[in-house]
Amino acid sequence: MIRPDPDCRLCGLCNGRTQVVYPDGNPGKGIVFVGEGPGEKEDIQGRPFVGKSGGILEEMMHRHGFSRDDVMITNTVKCRPPDNRDPFPDEMAACRPFLESELAEARLVVGLGKSAIRDIMGYVGPMADIVNVPVTIEVAGREVVFIPTYHPTATIYNKKSRSELNETMRVVSQWIRPPMRFGGFMLDMDGTIYKGGAPIPGAREFISFLREQRIPFVFLTNNSSHARSFYSEKLGRLGFDASVDDILTSTTATIRFLISERFGKRVYAVATPDVAAEMENAGIELTDEDPDIVVLTFDTTITYEKINKAYRFLKGGAELIATHPDDLCPTEDSYDIDIGPFIRMFEQMCQTQAVVIGKPNRLMLEMAAREMGVPPSETVMVGDRLYTDIAMAARAGTQSILVLSGETDRAMLRESDTVPTAVADSVADIPSMVLGARRGRFRSPL
Ligand code: URA
Repeated sequence: MIRPDPDCRLCGLCNGRTQVVYPDGNPGKGIVFVGEGPGEKEDIQGRPFVGKSGGILEEMMHRHGFSRDDVMITNTVKCRPPDNRDPFPDEMAACRPFLESELAEARLVVGLGKSAIRDIMGYVGPMADIVNVPVTIEVAGREVVFIPTYHPTATIYNKKSRSELNETMRVVSQWIRPPMRFGGFMLDMDGTIYKGGAPIPGAREFISFLREQRIPFVFLTNNSSHARSFYSEKLGRLGFDASVDDILTSTTATIRFLISERFGKRVYAVATPDVAAEMENAGIELTDEDPDIVVLTFDTTITYEKINKAYRFLKGGAELIATHPDDLCPTEDSYDIDIGPFIRMFEQMCQTQAVVIGKPNRLMLEMAAREMGVPPSETVMVGDRLYTDIAMAARAGTQSILVLSGETDRAMLRESDTVPTAVADSVADIPSMVLGARRGRFRSPL
């Protein structure tokens, strides 16, 4: 790497500078962030991005699980332009050989802000047209991926630029992370495998692929309005090769929790007849007199009488256990009220705090991993909801793939603090990810 002399006089910026600002971070990973030019703090400390914009950048990197040590940070010019103006073309030209040598080993270059993008890519149009669109640039005769994005300072008052920079950091994190491991899959159903009454295109082939490759999987659903047999029948009707044993509902998880953590306790179940029968068949003692526990499920047969019974039991000291936390349940063309509002009602009316079992509680993920015989760290949770599917994997410290075939779109992902390991348009894309990883070259699609 060629470095300017500490007393460099190649352009007029030498007149006002305190010191030359050299690149910082780790050149070994091949990822380089290029800013526009040092500001006041950088000029004093001799390090790029240590002022306010550096704080924003570091906070965003941290959110995506990496730090300055995973990238190299530099600027198009190494000395501070007066009054923080953009560097002039002749100043950038004087520093160009240094920049080129800094990029010589790069796999990925990120241009932070208009003037860095202009210098590297020669682009002068509206930022909105190119932000986060990867292009190939040539550096010293080599092709390198370049991602243009907003400067951290531009994100201070502008939500759109903030979410775009957040997206850039998500993509960078994909380049930094080790390749994904596909030891076993946990699959959300609605929005992931099927939508309402129709399979997601390519989902059946995906399940057949998992069977052929002998990769274990479990279907996971928070929906506790039906017994497991309902879901296996539904999957069968939609053409999926799945049995009751392939399904883990939040009711199943709650039953297992009751058996292992609340053994012998008597339960009042706010549940559909099917789900109550499932609990009873699993050995849970159900009662509507003086129970130890009220189990709240997604009871689509709920009545005023059931609500008041549960209220009185909870007031009398029974523990509240809810199968899952969702506020809404997707239907063919809209949403139904799920159990979240009921949990809050009972919590508030009875001054209690519910134990909530389903996603995003990591308990369900750990149960599924155990069932598959795969360490949680080797599993991948696949789902369409950031705040349940992806949040559960994040809490358990495991891998996840967000599919954009259901509730979440790219705009929501850009706003989100919950970050999936990878993103796919649908499960149809996953076989090529798995095969790519086997060949040692999987990287999440940009
Ligand atoms: N802005 C930049 O472009 N670079 C820095 O180093 C600091 C602020």
